[in-house]
Amino acid sequence: MNPFKYGDPVQGKYYLDRKELNKSVLTFIESQINVVLIGPRRYGKTSFILSLIRNLDKIGYTTISVDVFNVTSHRDFLNQFLSAITQKKTILKRFIEWLKTVPRQFKPALEWEADSGASPNFRLSLQAHKLSDDQVKQLIADALDSLKTLSEKTFIAFDEFQTIGQLEDNGWLEATIRSTMQLQKNVTFLFSGSRHGIIHDMFNNPSRPFYRSCQLINFPEFGPEFTDWIIGRFKEIGIQCAPETVDYLRKIVDDTPNYVQMACFNLVADEVRNVDREEIDSVLRRITAQNSYPYQTILNSLTPVQQRVLRLAACERKAIYTKDILEKYEIKTGAHVSQAIKSLVSKQILDESTGKGAVIFDDPLFAIWLRNEFAGRGSL
Ligand SMILES: Nc1ncnc2c1ncn2[C@@H]1O[C@H](COP(=O)(O)OP(=O)(O)OP(=O)(O)O)[C@@H](O)[C@H]1O
Ligand SMILES: [Mg+2]
Repeated sequence: MNPFKYGDPVQGKYYLDRKELNKSVLTFIESQINVVLIGPRRYGKTSFILSLIRNLDKIGYTTISVDVFNVTSHRDFLNQFLSAITQKKTILKRFIEWLKTVPRQFKPALEWEADSGASPNFRLSLQAHKLSDDQVKQLIADALDSLKTLSEKTFIAFDEFQTIGQLEDNGWLEATIRSTMQLQKNVTFLFSGSRHGIIHDMFNNPSRPFYRSCQLINFPEFGPEFTDWIIGRFKEIGIQCAPETVDYLRKIVDDTPNYVQMACFNLVADEVRNVDREEIDSVLRRITAQNSYPYQTILNSLTPVQQRVLRLAACERKAIYTKDILEKYEIKTGAHVSQAIKSLVSKQILDESTGKGAVIFDDPLFAIWLRNEFAGRGSL
């Protein structure tokens, strides 16, 4: 059994508890303060939300989690929202009551079957294409309104909430969710997002509905406990690894738990017995080499200047404009660097800088691949 897992949200033995974060978020929720969690991609936001939900279930909350990552329209949102609600057996009865109140004109699009046994079976199918745009909006507003009837203490999480801010609907959905929040005192909301600039603007721009409506929390990096946990997981299957080695790996992958677990998974799969720096370098080279094709495709879609700036960012790890550096990467001026970085951020290849001129890759393995391709073998 491989003690590491990556890609999907983790729980149980594969999940290291974020005790501090859990405690502070719980305190806000219990004080009915709505929360926004902002963190980089693949840091463990969804895993954390799922663990938080399990804890809230234990203390009597009705919990709902809506993933809005791929939502591109109001119809998509309605689908995701209804399917999140219907997955909760505990609130089905009340939800069915609500469905009965849905006006006749929606009936052709909403079909449900329920039998009321001990564990009721329920099937809802929404054929949103049968509804007009206005009807979809009305149904969203009604469904959000139904939250207040579900239970005494309800918690709802919207994961990847920034997609809502990007819908081209003049802020209608944002405003509708916001007014639901204001009206429903028994419901606490949590929003999470990974595109820092967008989500920050949603909650800090005075002209937007969510302005200062929630407590903002930056999703924290793990402390030294993550290193200990990794060493412990290796130890369980008899693999030795020093703390400095784990710290080295953490640093290379921008302390992203997903890539730490990915590297460790591969070390175990490759039957490495003693994990040291060389093994880390070598496993990362193997992993990134497997991604050569998609990386090459991304690179080919960029202009030559953008490619050079990306190389600069990967190798120098900063957006630096000294004459030497610009010459080394064949870039004419610092303005070219800024311009290219902007485009690379909008293409989601780079993340918005956290200040101090640092450049963060959305996928830190892409940076490693670029360094290997362009800075000569062996230097990560
Ligand atoms: N608390 C944790 N303990 C151990 N590993 C973790 C933890 N949280 C996340 N990970 C690692 O990160 C991976 C991704 O986790 P998750 O999907 O929760 O992140 P995310 O921030 O929601 O990602 P995305 O940006 O893709 O939505 C997991 O498969 C696991 O390898
Ligand atoms: Mg996620």
